[in-house]
This record gives sequence, C-alpha cells and structure tokens, in this order.
Amino acid sequence: MPSEVVQINHPLVQHKLSLLRQESTHTQDFRRLLKEISLLLAYEVTRDLPLKYEVIKTPLAEMKAPLLAADKNMVIVSIMRAGQGLLDGMLELIPTAKVGHIGLYREPNTLTVVEYYLKLPHDVDQREMLVVDPMLATGNSAVAAVDRLKEANPLSIKFVCVLAAPEGIQHFQEQHPDVPIYTAAIDDYLDEHGYIVPGLGDAGDRLYGTK
Ligand code: URA
Repeated sequence: MPSEVVQINHPLVQHKLSLLRQESTHTQDFRRLLKEISLLLAYEVTRDLPLKYEVIKTPLAEMKAPLLAADKNMVIVSIMRAGQGLLDGMLELIPTAKVGHIGLYREPNTLTVVEYYLKLPHDVDQREMLVVDPMLATGNSAVAAVDRLKEANPLSIKFVCVLAAPEGIQHFQEQHPDVPIYTAAIDDYLDEHGYIVPGLGDAGDRLYGTK
C-alpha cells in the first residue's frame, strides 16, 4: 500500500499559496506567506494527536477538559535550507517540539543527493517526527532524508511540504510507503531541471533573496 497523501484544501491555504507562487511576490512577503501557510499545515498535520481528559477549574466551574495526551513528544526536522521557511510557523503552534536539521543538496547535473549536515535531539526515538521541506520535487532529498532519519528510530514520521510533483510523490511512496505526505497542492510535472511546474520557482532562493 502506498503512503497516504493528504492534500490540504483549506481556502486560506489555497489563497496564500497562490500569492506565494506569484513571480511578483518578493522575499519579505514570500517569507511571511510561507510562515502563515506553515501554521495552517501544522494545524492539519496535528489533527490526529491523542487527547487526555483532566479536571480543570474555570472561573465558573470544574470540568473535565481535553488536553494533549503527550504535548512534549514531537520533533520537527527541517531539510535545509528551504525547510527553515516552515519551521518557525510550526514551532509557534507546537512550541514544545524539539528541532532537528538535515542538510542535503542536489548535485545539479545528476540531481542526486549529498548529505552535508545532520543534527538531531538525543531522544528522537521517543518522539513523533515531522519532516518539513516546502518542495517535494524529484523526491530524492525527501527519500534520502527519511532514509537517514529512520536510522534514529522516531516513533512515527510524517512528511510535510507545500507543493508536490506527481513524480516526487510516486518516488517517495515507493521508498517510504509507511510515511504519509501532507501537501497543500499537487502540481503538474517536473521540468528537465527538476523544478515543479507551475510551482513557485526555487523556494530557498525566494525565501532568502539569493537570486
Ligand atoms: N526545489 C525548489 O525549490 N523548487 C522546485 O521547483 C523544485 C525543487
């Protein structure tokens, strides 16, 4: 069974995504929009967190109130560098999460993946993991990142992106059928340079103004 693909069709996400895609959206707004989208993605991706009930006291009465059963057991791993654009928004919604970083780059001619950095919290094996990268393009970096992160034995893994290409989804599903993909949109195809079309261009460059 291939991994589940959850497409987040919320109108706010779709609207912000269209603004994000536009060529005329400059770095400052791109960054803000990506952060706003990441907050909304975090909301959706945490929808299945288990609750526990505890007695609390409101100004009027006592009640059995729902609270997160384990609100300190998440780790968010950013695939650098564009993953950084999703991190702050996610942490705003899940402030108790720990953070890991994995650095991968695509060798421009072959599009193969090279790992140059990995730093994870020591207790990853007791945490649910969200792996974040705005773009699931060829899927090579996502697959390589999750290959490596599985070695640290997290309790579970979800992959969170903003845009996915059908080719990337297929590749990821073949390699990691146990890892669900959350995305705001599935675009048409990858061009010969590995860019998602219609896409939004190079997420890292647009985020940091490096082009
Ligand atoms: N990475 C990006 O930043 N953009 C793409 O379209 C594909 C990969």
